Amino acid sequence: MAEKLERARYGAAAFAGMEGTLPSPYPRTMGPNCLKYLQEVVESGLTCNMLGRFEEAFAREMGVKHCIGTPGCTPALAILAAAFAFEPGDEIIVSPITDYGTVQGLIRENYIPVFADTEPGTINLSAATIERCLSDRTRAILCVHKTGLLCDMDPINALAEKHGLIVYEDVCQAVFGEYKGRLAGTLGKAAGFSFDSEKTMGSDVGGCVVTNDDELAERIRFIGQSRGAVAVPGFGRKHTVAGYAYRMTQSTAAICLGQLEIIRDQVAHRDRMARLLTKLIAEIPGVTPLPIPDYVNVYSCWMFGLSIDPAQFRCTPAEFAQQLADGGIPGAGMGEYYLIPAACTFLEENARKKVYPYSLPPASREYRYGADTCPTARDFLKTFIRWATFCEKYQPEHCEQAAAIVRAVADRNRR
Ligand SMILES: Cc1ncc(COP(=O)(O)O)c(C=O)c1O
Repeated sequence: MAEKLERARYGAAAFAGMEGTLPSPYPRTMGPNCLKYLQEVVESGLTCNMLGRFEEAFAREMGVKHCIGTPGCTPALAILAAAFAFEPGDEIIVSPITDYGTVQGLIRENYIPVFADTEPGTINLSAATIERCLSDRTRAILCVHKTGLLCDMDPINALAEKHGLIVYEDVCQAVFGEYKGRLAGTLGKAAGFSFDSEKTMGSDVGGCVVTNDDELAERIRFIGQSRGAVAVPGFGRKHTVAGYAYRMTQSTAAICLGQLEIIRDQVAHRDRMARLLTKLIAEIPGVTPLPIPDYVNVYSCWMFGLSIDPAQFRCTPAEFAQQLADGGIPGAGMGEYYLIPAACTFLEENARKKVYPYSLPPASREYRYGADTCPTARDFLKTFIRWATFCEKYQPEHCEQAAAIVRAVADRNRR
């Protein structure tokens, strides 16, 4: 009989029972005005335009023309995928180490996700790994800035320009991170953000799309929020496209507006703490923290991660991670499930069975998924340990304490 598996948990529920001596993200730090804005929503009898206020404030802070509030990044990227209106069977090149939310919209639009491998030694794809995946069906590149470390966007944009491709970003883990002085989310045609309670700007289940493209913004609002409906005088609504009703709620907008007021200071603090922790961890033989490239001038670190050299230790990476958790680092564990071409088991099955859009046509060739299609990412994740609970509450003494726990585990297991 098939093993009975539990449903995955999200938000605060996913962190229940993760205990340790280091800070945990929950309960979240809330901006001082969150309650005031929530009260305005309620007292206005839901007539105030809190969503518009948040969208305007976020767009201003990002320095972009448009922000469109959504109920999360998964819906944000889904409506972007719909708004791009590519053909079924068209290919979108995407990061292999990410969350399901990155690819959900691509799959629903019957596009084909093509996972570029990671650049050796990093957790992100690169222009070189993308180039190997280009085909005459490639239409766009979706870059994920994993853990808050930014992809090297200039070479990616140059490659895309050469081939006439759209570049867009999944900024879920890198809010207000900076690449060569430019904010993540402004480095392509558009970007999706998450303000989920567990994310850096933890608000509630929420997110947004940002873009400077007027036409795309209008299309996103039409397809993504107006359910693809036009108002016809004397008739009512006519749905000219199969649209979505992905609007951010007024109450989430109120919390987001309050959180926006404190986020820049929090991100600057996260950057300092992540750099300190990186320096301390780098001093431990056999342990390598995720490298922070020079072009990342603000590391909006959502999740801290390190790799271990298995040759130097008597325990497996999973045992090492468990000992970190037992030693007081809440949420320390392996991140192998982030390998989406392997974790989305239905992709391999659909491609093998040639289920639409893998049928020929609209697909132009055969596809394969699974861990072996991105061997660098696969091998990287075999020795990669992350702690899900790095947060704005870290102070220098917590970084010292975390590094001491890692050092103790390393020394205890050293060959
Ligand atoms: C990289 C990335 N993309 C997309 C998502 C989905 O975001 P949301 O939960 O807001 O839909 C997540 C959430 O974990 C993520 O980390």
